[in-house]
Amino acid sequence: MSLNIDIIAGARPNFIKIAAIIHALHAHNAKAARPLSYRLIHTGQHYDAAMSQHFFDQLHIPPPHINFGVGSGTQAYQTGQIMMAYEDALRTEKPDLCIVVGDVTSTMACTLVAKKEGVAVAHVEGGIRSGDMTMPEEINRIVTDSIADYYFTTSRQANENLLSRGALSGQIFFVGNTMIDTLVTQLPNLRKPDFYNKLNLGHLPYLVVTLHRPSNVDAPENLDKLLSLLNDHANGHLMIFPIHPRTRKIFDGIGKTYPKLFLTDPMDYLSFIYLVQKSKGVVTDSGGITEETTILGVPCMTLRNTTERPETVTIGTNEMVGTAEEKIVEALHKMTTGLWKKGEKPELWDGKAGERIVEIIINEIIKKQK
Ligand code: UD1
Repeated sequence: MSLNIDIIAGARPNFIKIAAIIHALHAHNAKAARPLSYRLIHTGQHYDAAMSQHFFDQLHIPPPHINFGVGSGTQAYQTGQIMMAYEDALRTEKPDLCIVVGDVTSTMACTLVAKKEGVAVAHVEGGIRSGDMTMPEEINRIVTDSIADYYFTTSRQANENLLSRGALSGQIFFVGNTMIDTLVTQLPNLRKPDFYNKLNLGHLPYLVVTLHRPSNVDAPENLDKLLSLLNDHANGHLMIFPIHPRTRKIFDGIGKTYPKLFLTDPMDYLSFIYLVQKSKGVVTDSGGITEETTILGVPCMTLRNTTERPETVTIGTNEMVGTAEEKIVEALHKMTTGLWKKGEKPELWDGKAGERIVEIIINEIIKKQK
């Protein structure tokens, strides 16, 4: 028995996750009598080389079979464009299974189309919840999980979340974290960023900052407040800030300088992880980065009030600091003076999630789909 699979990827964090699945599929196919064939679909949600192609190159992801090239726009525009393009693709060729990853607009849009076209959907990173309905990602997770057929989860909490919302235990597979697979694979290949020596980062302690959530960056006064706080309480540390395109637009409009912040374009994967691994700590509003810092053992403070990844706090090195001034100042003091908690590795975040996903497809899903 064989199975045809569509793998969907649209935005930067998706590329890191699908790399693990595709490499596991290739490893399986190299020794299997009946290979699993797949079609890689890039929706084009992220399109700049720094947000997309560099990840394909560094993570050895083969070129997509199809690229919808949807580009930027409102959530509804992107969702609509992706849905129409995927519907066309499914009418040309219908797979047995559609694999979606994470929580971006592309994840939800392709899930809706696949299900309406009668294609089973497996959601990698299913079941996580922040409880914050102002985040587009939370809506994407809820919609995707409410109609998907299979869930590959990163934590037992995610399993509980799915079960409590009506999923059946036979649909849920706790496999670990594909983002960590890629991290573990790439650790020997990390690269020093171009600016590293120029800024003397090998000798001076520094922090890494990433901010791109609409609630933190879309209003210039919010972004300015956060950057001013970081700048004023850096405790002598330089802060390296690889700036997301959406944040860059708002930042340019503020027109201020923050002497302790060193801005750089979005970084490639291998340089970014190098920078994080050698840093004194990370200040972020990303979810994925809190998983990476947990495995790297690097202190991390999250400028949000909720997380869909609670294990990064209860087990890992992450702290939910929020955006109140006194909390940020206190956390920066702890981080820059080396008083941060130590963390441990969450269960099954061991670099083998992709392998487990492929095994489950072969041993369980294939029988149900054929
Ligand atoms: C998306 C995901 C978010 C993820 C983030 C990682 C959703 C709802 N959000 O947010 O969960 O953490 O990706 O980066 O899917 N832009 C460019 N070049 C690009 C891509 C984007 O200039 O290659 C600009 C555009 O102006 C665009 C804006 O960035 O409007 C935001 O991009 P978008 O894909 O809408 O959402 P992200 O904020 O990147």
